[in-house]
Formats: sequence, C-alpha cells, structure tokens
Amino acid sequence: MGERLAVVSGGGTGIGAAIARVLAVDGFDVLVVGRREEALRATTARISWDIARPGAVRAVVADLADPEQVSRVAETVEGRAVDAVINNAGSYRGGDSGTLAGVAHQWRANLDANVLTAVLLTEALRPALRRPGGRVILVSSIAAQQGGGGPYSAAKAALHGWAYDLAAQLGPEQITVNVVSPGYVTDTEFFGGRMTPQGHTRRVAATLVGRAGTPDDIAEAVRYLAGPAAGYVTGQVLGVNGGSVLGR
Ligand SMILES: NC(=O)c1ccc[n+]([C@@H]2O[C@H](COP(=O)([O-])OP(=O)(O)OC[C@H]3O[C@@H](n4cnc5c(N)ncnc54)[C@H](OP(=O)(O)O)[C@@H]3O)[C@@H](O)[C@H]2O)c1
Repeated sequence: MGERLAVVSGGGTGIGAAIARVLAVDGFDVLVVGRREEALRATTARISWDIARPGAVRAVVADLADPEQVSRVAETVEGRAVDAVINNAGSYRGGDSGTLAGVAHQWRANLDANVLTAVLLTEALRPALRRPGGRVILVSSIAAQQGGGGPYSAAKAALHGWAYDLAAQLGPEQITVNVVSPGYVTDTEFFGGRMTPQGHTRRVAATLVGRAGTPDDIAEAVRYLAGPAAGYVTGQVLGVNGGSVLGR
C-alpha cells in the first residue's frame, strides 16, 4: 500500500486515465471512479501492469451524479486519509433545445454531468481529506472562459466560482483547491463522433503552439497541483490550452 491516496473521477478513459497513471507513477494509490466497469477495469489493469505495482490503481463503479452511489465511493476509502480528489468526470450533453422541456433537460444534464459529479464527490470525501496537505482539483474547460458550449460552458464556469469558495473554506486547514482548465484535447472519448476535420483544424489553429493537447499535457498540470511543490497555490485556474485563451 502506498502512503498517499488519490481519487480520480472519470479515470477509466482519456484525461482521467492519464491523471491516474502519473499519480500512480508518483507513488499514490489511486481509486478511479466511473460508470462503466469495463473501461475502469481495462485502465486499472494496464497501469498497474505498466508500473509493476499490483493494486496501485483500483476501480469503483458509480454514477457520481447520484448521491447514493457517491456515498458508496466514500465508504470504500473509509479509514484512510484522502490526499487528492481529482474531479475530472464530465461531458458535453447535447439534445433538443426546441422546446422548454428540452432546454430544461439539456441544462440539467450538463449540470449533473459537470457540476454535481464534482460537488457530490468532493463533499462525500471532504471529511476524509488529509489535514494538513489535502488537494482538491477540478477539471473545467476552456469553454468556461470563452463560451462556445452553451450549458456545458455555463456548467464548467460554475466550477470556478465554487472552487473559490471551497478554497476559502478549506484554506485554514491547509487544503488547497484549484481548477485545471484544458483546451482542445484529442485521444479521449469526449467528442465521440462529433469532431469533424474542419473542427479539428480550427481548434488547432486557435492555439499558439499549433497542436492539439494530449491527455498527458493535462495530467502533468494535475500532477504539479497534487504534489508537494504546489502547497502555496490555491484558488487558481490553471489554463492548459496551448495559448488559445490568454491569461485568464
Ligand atoms: N477532450 C477535451 O478536449 C476537453 C477539453 C476541455 C475539458 N475537458 C474535460 O476533461 C474531462 C475529461 O474528459 P475527456 O476529454 O478525458 O473525455 P472522456 O474520455 O469522455 O472522459 C470523461 C470521463 O468521465 C466519466 N464520467 C462522465 N460522467 C460521469 C458520471 N456521471 N459519473 C462518473 N463518471 C462519469 C466517463 O466515464 P463513464 O462514461 O464510464 O462514466 C469518462 O471516463 C471532462 O470533464 C471534460 O469536460 C475535455
């Protein structure tokens, strides 16, 4: 058993799987949470094998928008201090916005997927956070800062305001709270079938470095914020976007 424990939501795929890997390499025991058991199991097996540490990454299946299922996640860590909670689970939820009922459904779906997942997991694990030294990290999106995603943008922006309050509440206990805001990242399931070659080219052209981000680009930012070097960084939004949004 490692000395430190990290919980990574959405850790079965994409950015979350890359975060789980770097934290496991750094010696954390990692608990990945998501709704699909198969995706989680494949990732836990791959990382534990690659780093030759059996059991380094374990999986819990849960829909983090459901309070009862989130309580079960908290029960699995009972008795251990949680050093880092990485709220990475999230998705863009489209739908019919031609009726008010459709609008309400789409907004609720985006708030559930991107806000409630983070709020419920963090609140459930809040008593277990290591004091002093715990870390809460929220993965938002460039869409929070520049728009473009309708209710998805609004939901991600909500994480920023909440992070500032949480940082103020937990600061006196030496727990930091920060947001990592990724730009366009490929090699994840985020876009599903939605991305077109033109959409890809436009997003790459909007960066200053002329490329899409990788899950590892985001994971390295999380690694820094979760580690001992970042103890004086709290209440911040760290953009990892190739320069496509500047300085905010
Ligand atoms: N890719 C990008 O360009 C980009 C840009 C900016 C921000 N982001 C953000 O980065 C984060 C990771 O996205 P990604 O690109 O790596 O896409 P991804 O591969 O689709 O990862 C999202 C993960 O979240 C999990 N998840 C979604 N809803 C959940 C729920 N209710 N309960 C538990 N787990 C849930 C999914 O697993 P299950 O489906 O198995 O539950 C999946 O593993 C997301 O918050 C996304 O909004 C991505």
